[in-house]
Amino acid sequence: MGVLEGKIAIVTGAGRGIGREIALDFAREGASVVVNDLGGGPDGAGQSHIADEVVAEIVAAGGEAAANYDTVATMEGGTAIFQTAIDSFGGADILVNNAGILRDRTIFNMSEDEWDIVVAVHLKGHFCCSQPFARYIRENNRTGCRLINFSSVSGLYGNFGQSNYGAAKAGIAAFSRILAKELEKYECTVNTISPSAATRLTIALRQGREGDFDPNDPMVGPQQIAPVVTWLASPAGRDVTGQILHVSGGQVGIMQQYAIIRSFKSDHLLEIDELDRVIPALVQAKLAADERGAKEGEPETLPS
Ligand SMILES: NC(=O)c1ccc[n+]([C@@H]2O[C@H](COP(=O)([O-])OP(=O)(O)OC[C@H]3O[C@@H](n4cnc5c(N)ncnc54)[C@H](O)[C@@H]3O)[C@@H](O)[C@H]2O)c1
Repeated sequence: MGVLEGKIAIVTGAGRGIGREIALDFAREGASVVVNDLGGGPDGAGQSHIADEVVAEIVAAGGEAAANYDTVATMEGGTAIFQTAIDSFGGADILVNNAGILRDRTIFNMSEDEWDIVVAVHLKGHFCCSQPFARYIRENNRTGCRLINFSSVSGLYGNFGQSNYGAAKAGIAAFSRILAKELEKYECTVNTISPSAATRLTIALRQGREGDFDPNDPMVGPQQIAPVVTWLASPAGRDVTGQILHVSGGQVGIMQQYAIIRSFKSDHLLEIDELDRVIPALVQAKLAADERGAKEGEPETLPS
């Protein structure tokens, strides 16, 4: 019996790339899956019914799936995607907010449209798809659900030329932390994935940077992300919430999140000359913590 037997899942952007692999893995593990995809280009332009191909693959393998072609970027789209789960399978237990696009440009050249569409698909898209699901959980007191969101090192670390995408992805990490608190009462876990995988969004860039890069190697392909998402969605993931997991080329790691790591306290309004000493000491503490964190985060061999 699969670890998701009897569960109903929605995966956005599941027509290709990482989302497709998650939808296939969920179905293999026994879930009924709504395969959502607008079917546009990497920049979000156009649309098609590529979700049908993934549905056909799942059904051919003996699984259950339904296609949806709506955009995640509007409330109407998010509501229709959720409704597909209700109409096709009578409920929903798992939502994976994975759909994404890119419109890279530095701040000097970015147009308002390039900013708006990227923030709409990623950050607003997470809201549009999550709200119907969250309301359904509360109205039906449906406990044990799972919400899995997609961030990126582009936002968590910062990446040149991606202020629209990175800001949306950092916002998604905050959105997840807050939803983890808001949905705790219903035993719904909310976690964030920071993936790295060879897909149409990354292959050209990585081929330019990494000499020995083979996009067909499953260890770098979108297949390597799916098992971690499936685990989080399964009963085994019940106690893991509010976390960011980085998944990349066989590495699975947990990300540090915001916390004060050193501070000073004063009983008077701070003077400029005091800040001359305080702020450099704080920055030093941060650099030392970064160095410690980088060492501790080095991949280890799997525990037995
Ligand atoms: N590939 C990586 O290394 C990487 C790194 C960091 C983050 N991510 C994130 O992972 C997620 C999946 O990316 P991927 O690499 O598989 O990309 P991909 O382009 O292969 O797949 C994304 C899918 O989302 C769909 N989509 C786009 N806009 C949509 C919309 N408005 N409504 C519904 N569907 C829509 C696309 O049609 C596409 O099929 C994205 O959120 C991306 O930002 C990927």
